[in-house]
Amino acid sequence: MGAELKYKCGSLFYFKGRTTKMSELDTLRSELIASIEGAVNIDGLEKIRILALGKKGKITELMKGLGTLEEDARKVAGQTLNILKGEISNIIDVKKKAFVVAELNSKLATEKVDISLPIRPECKGLIHPISQTIDEVVAILGEFGLSVAEGPDIEDDWHNFTALNIPPDHPARQEHDTFYLPGQSDTDRFVLRTHTSPVQIRTMMKSKPPIRIIVPGRTYRCDYDATHSPMFHQVEGLVIDENTHMGHLKGCIIDFCRTFFGVDDLPVRFRPSYFPFTEPSAEVDIGCTREGGEFRIGHGDDWLEILGCGMVNENVLKNCKIDPDKYQGFAFGMGIERMAMLKYGIPDLRTFYDSDIRWLNHYGFSAFDIPSLVKGL
Ligand code: PHE
Repeated sequence: MGAELKYKCGSLFYFKGRTTKMSELDTLRSELIASIEGAVNIDGLEKIRILALGKKGKITELMKGLGTLEEDARKVAGQTLNILKGEISNIIDVKKKAFVVAELNSKLATEKVDISLPIRPECKGLIHPISQTIDEVVAILGEFGLSVAEGPDIEDDWHNFTALNIPPDHPARQEHDTFYLPGQSDTDRFVLRTHTSPVQIRTMMKSKPPIRIIVPGRTYRCDYDATHSPMFHQVEGLVIDENTHMGHLKGCIIDFCRTFFGVDDLPVRFRPSYFPFTEPSAEVDIGCTREGGEFRIGHGDDWLEILGCGMVNENVLKNCKIDPDKYQGFAFGMGIERMAMLKYGIPDLRTFYDSDIRWLNHYGFSAFDIPSLVKGL
């Protein structure tokens, strides 16, 4: 390996008080080349490099001795040592590259990707039935021309109650029904909103009719059993325009119910009721049967209540600086969990929030099934 050293001239030079013969350099060269050739790996090769060319290496030490020589001798010896140094480091580099290539080849040979292994089971996320139901409601009402509006979960007393014409003695205002935040007086205290209706007020305060909104969101009440939870979801609807009347309200709700439950001839009944913020007010029932312990929507002669609605009370319009002689409108509100339970046969409302993966796998929806009226819900 490597070319023979061509020593320029002279046969001796002096180093560390002793004369080094050219033949000794030859021996050193042969020894180094032999040990480089005998190296079995990169680590061994590195040890040889340090031994020859490191700070205290044999060739380095010889070079350090050059300064003690006469000028002529130094020139000759310097050239000779440089040739040796270049040759040795070259041989080391070549050998090192050979090790790197050999290592890569052995990796390529041993570390094969086994494409016959079965792939890991796919772990797909699913859409929670609450999100799915909100998306469905929004898809239907969006098609009717309503667009989504939002408001804060923490409301003030005025937006949640007063502006909605809710009298001081209304049960919704009672301490044991509502989560009040501490610290304020009765009239300007904050509450976790008990319904999505305050967003009606917020929208009417900031925009002029015509108004057509749907408001999905979280709501809070002091309730806890199989059909109630302290936090739940509602969707509110509000339509305000000139000449809006009860016929619009009925058409909108009937079409909505039939589309949502997927029953074209679903019986829908409007039952007179009372809400402070609507006049007249109604509760909406859909037809169902409960025969033999089996509950079915759309058949039979039984009724099930699903939402509240009515024509917006003129006091509410006035509170929002909307002229009730010019504009009228209707509003409705429904509980999302209740709609999901009915549509998807979920028996206990509390399970919605348990985060039980088995429940989610059973009731969840594919993220690719985006609800739309064109594709079906
Ligand atoms: N806010 C009412 C509730 O929570 C529902 C409702 C909304 C009723 C709009 C009429 C009009 O029960």
